[in-house]
Amino acid sequence: MKILFVTPECAPYVKTGGLGDVSGALPQALAALGHEVCVLLPAYRGMKVSGEIGDGVELPPYGPWPAAQLVPVKIASGVTLLLLACPSLYQRPGGPYVDASGRDYHDNAMRFGMLSRIAAQLGTVHSPLRGWSADVVHCNDWPTGLVPLYLAQSRLISPQEPVAASVITIHNLAFQGTFPMASADVLGVPWQWRGMDGVEFYGELSMLKAGLQFADAITAVSPTYAKEIQTPENGIGLDGVLRARASRLTGILNGVDTTVWNPAQDPLLPHRFGRGNFKGKALCKSALQARVGLPAERGAMLFAVVSRLTPQKGIDLVLAALPKILSSGGQLVVLGQGEPGLQQGLQEAVARHPSQVAVTVDFDEGLAHLIEAGADAFLMPSRFEPCGLNQMYSQLYGTPPIVAPVGGLRDSVTDASADPVQGTGFVLASVDAAGLEEAIGRALKAWQQPQLWKKIQANGMARHFGWEDSARQYVQVYQRAQAVAGAAADPALSPVR
Ligand code: ADP
Ligand code: GLC
Repeated sequence: MKILFVTPECAPYVKTGGLGDVSGALPQALAALGHEVCVLLPAYRGMKVSGEIGDGVELPPYGPWPAAQLVPVKIASGVTLLLLACPSLYQRPGGPYVDASGRDYHDNAMRFGMLSRIAAQLGTVHSPLRGWSADVVHCNDWPTGLVPLYLAQSRLISPQEPVAASVITIHNLAFQGTFPMASADVLGVPWQWRGMDGVEFYGELSMLKAGLQFADAITAVSPTYAKEIQTPENGIGLDGVLRARASRLTGILNGVDTTVWNPAQDPLLPHRFGRGNFKGKALCKSALQARVGLPAERGAMLFAVVSRLTPQKGIDLVLAALPKILSSGGQLVVLGQGEPGLQQGLQEAVARHPSQVAVTVDFDEGLAHLIEAGADAFLMPSRFEPCGLNQMYSQLYGTPPIVAPVGGLRDSVTDASADPVQGTGFVLASVDAAGLEEAIGRALKAWQQPQLWKKIQANGMARHFGWEDSARQYVQVYQRAQAVAGAAADPALSPVR
């Protein structure tokens, strides 16, 4: 199958969170199953890419969009990166979505409208790549939400021409890509699709809603999250749309790229370790304590957070439960960046307890790996968590996670109190400060029983979080999407939407 994976971020080239990790790993896993995979990604400033560069393709200006170039790069894993080079839209200081001061770029509708338009073209006979058009276009989150709409439009305009099936994956329903409805003109959204049954969301245009309405198949990044988002409590206004399209929606748990996250081979660690050899882990703990300026106390249980600092991640709950860690003589290390209020709260905790709390406000891949390896336990009291990757990394690194019973956390962590034989971490009974304190208390007790703790660590380290199973499930979804798209293309069978 020819698969086009379109994404606004992709590790190791550009990453702000888990979507980057998934985009780096899933296409490779699909290629390993024998599929032909291209990853379409904007060429942002400062990106370092190595591979065999193919012939660039000129993309002429179109409507409001400037001319651009599509540069294919064959990377080692057998995947072809298609870099969308359009300097006026993508070559800027700042991140993929926000400027250097953290504000959304004013022209994000244009920037990701462009990405979506080119992705859709690559799924038609008008593909700019000579001799290659996708059978399936796999879209990810709101920046790619218009792709399914553009593909549906192509089917409508030229019913006799083959058009790729579309799949959209929801990594986080909280980011919806809403813009003034006036942008529908520049983005070329047909009039008949600007209403409630189309892209309209409380008077605005929602790119995510466009994706959900028009995709041939929808996936969410864990089975539990796929259910949660169909409820009014967790659907963030889109639960009705998702319930209406429930038969198209599948939950598939993310995997872990074990070429990047494996404590036995991790080049970012000063010492390696594995299930049979925990010595390296103890050395990583000392190295971590030294790196972040905490006293090198082996007897202090070291709790860790690596996260975007947002209310989603329950960072305020970590602050509220901090006394429980402090009174036990434990330590807390945090790596993250995000909301200034949370950053400030954490920095105040450092000022008050410099020998027990260390906070690094930064995005630092190397330190993230050292924390996963050197900490004793990992905190993720998320209010919602579509999948979450750090709880999986921490299990593989012998750092039992303490997690909220939501989304992918529920699907990937087994509570050691409820299941002492197979437990891999600790699950909160309630997502609040008391729930977190109680779970931290259970972890502290277990840590004081070395045999029990080793068992919990070993259980987590033995987990298989590889991508292969998930990649196979995606292929099944692609096949279902193709069947639906084929039916929709036949006017006699009429649109399914
Ligand atoms: P989300 O995508 O919601 O942020 P995930 O758990 O799926 O959450 O993925 C987060 C990814 O981003 C992980 O790979 C994590 O290690 C990484 N990460 C988050 N914050 C930082 C940071 N400040 N420095 C380095 N890596 C980070
Ligand atoms: C989102 C979610 C996170 C998920 C990641 C990758 O950023 O917040 O839970 O793991 O996407 O799918």
